[in-house]
Amino acid sequence: MPSPTQSIHILGLGSIGTFVAHSIRSLPSPPPVTLLAHRPALYQEFASRGWKLGLRLTEDGPLQERGDFNGELLGKTPSTNPIHNLIVAVKASATVSALEPIKHRLGRHSTICLFQNGMGQIDDLNERIFPDASTRPTYMFGIMRHGVYLRSLAEAILAGANGSASLGIVDSNDQESRRSQAEFLMDVLLRAPSLNCERLQWADLFKVQLFKLAVNCVLNPLTAILDVRNGCIGENSNLWPLHDRLLQEISTVFQNLPELQSLPIDRNLFSVPSLKSVVSDMVEKTAQNSSSMREDMRKGRATEIEYINGWILRRGKELGINCDTNACLTQLVLAKSQIGMNDGAR
Ligand SMILES: NC(=O)c1ccc[n+]([C@@H]2O[C@H](COP(=O)([O-])OP(=O)(O)OC[C@H]3O[C@@H](n4cnc5c(N)ncnc54)[C@H](OP(=O)(O)O)[C@@H]3O)[C@@H](O)[C@H]2O)c1
Repeated sequence: MPSPTQSIHILGLGSIGTFVAHSIRSLPSPPPVTLLAHRPALYQEFASRGWKLGLRLTEDGPLQERGDFNGELLGKTPSTNPIHNLIVAVKASATVSALEPIKHRLGRHSTICLFQNGMGQIDDLNERIFPDASTRPTYMFGIMRHGVYLRSLAEAILAGANGSASLGIVDSNDQESRRSQAEFLMDVLLRAPSLNCERLQWADLFKVQLFKLAVNCVLNPLTAILDVRNGCIGENSNLWPLHDRLLQEISTVFQNLPELQSLPIDRNLFSVPSLKSVVSDMVEKTAQNSSSMREDMRKGRATEIEYINGWILRRGKELGINCDTNACLTQLVLAKSQIGMNDGAR
């Protein structure tokens, strides 16, 4: 019988949450996994399917089912059982509200791994949910390079077999004791089949996060506003001056981040030419893809803009760096989302 410290809870049962939960239960002798449902209808739907999750590698691949998940409905009669290992796979903008109902079960004994796009969620959690640094959980951050979508509730499609993920423990003043605490969840995720996860030290993970953010700051808002696939962003020469202005602001913010000064990271990696080559490379590799922000907007859902270009704005403001181009795109995305949501409500 595994101890409660070896049990994993999953919050956010969309594409990534389903994929990660399925991968963990695909391990030989897997740990117990509890799916946290935030809506009664979701809980009932999972229950009626016998708490099973399915995964297909590509649309036509065979369905691989995994079972024996535990389920919990959040809300009405809140449990007080401590949560030791939590995987968060809600959209960045839902992080604080999603953790609110379980915050009393989380603390110094907990490790939280965020599998999300964007930056700034941990600052929000620290400010609004865990203000006391001595009792807050240990954070891990996972960067996903898999493409996953849901065919239906509890059935995820993995777009290809060559995706991967990077994982690391987020820097803190008491890094050493935090490391041993996070080891159980780290080990499970590194071994989980199909996740193809590598472990990175904090400096390397932070570097990868910043590169990914730069790519998202260019690709996401432009594809969403213009309603085009990624490739169009590289081909349309009218957009190139805009790319340059965005990357100029992003590069200045990155190179002046105070947290970068204490890390062994060459600041020239964030020069405009260097960021430009990272972005061009990604546009080329994902030319046929439709970005998550474009898809969110098409479906009338909130986007993650406030944790992508919005993070650049927040940090730029703190550092006294003008980020007007990022501000302008952020406002346009918010405005277009509002129109989409209003249309949906009509
Ligand atoms: N999918 C990918 O291929 C991919 C790749 C790389 C990175 N990412 C990143 O991974 C993160 C998750 O993306 P995703 O594609 O899995 O999103 P998703 O399919 O939209 O899943 C998010 C899930 O969170 C649930 N949720 C919303 N509010 C909640 C709350 N308060 N409490 C608990 N659950 C809540 C949503 O339920 P409702 O149905 O009620 O809204 C939904 O099931 C995002 O940051 C995304 O950018 C995704």
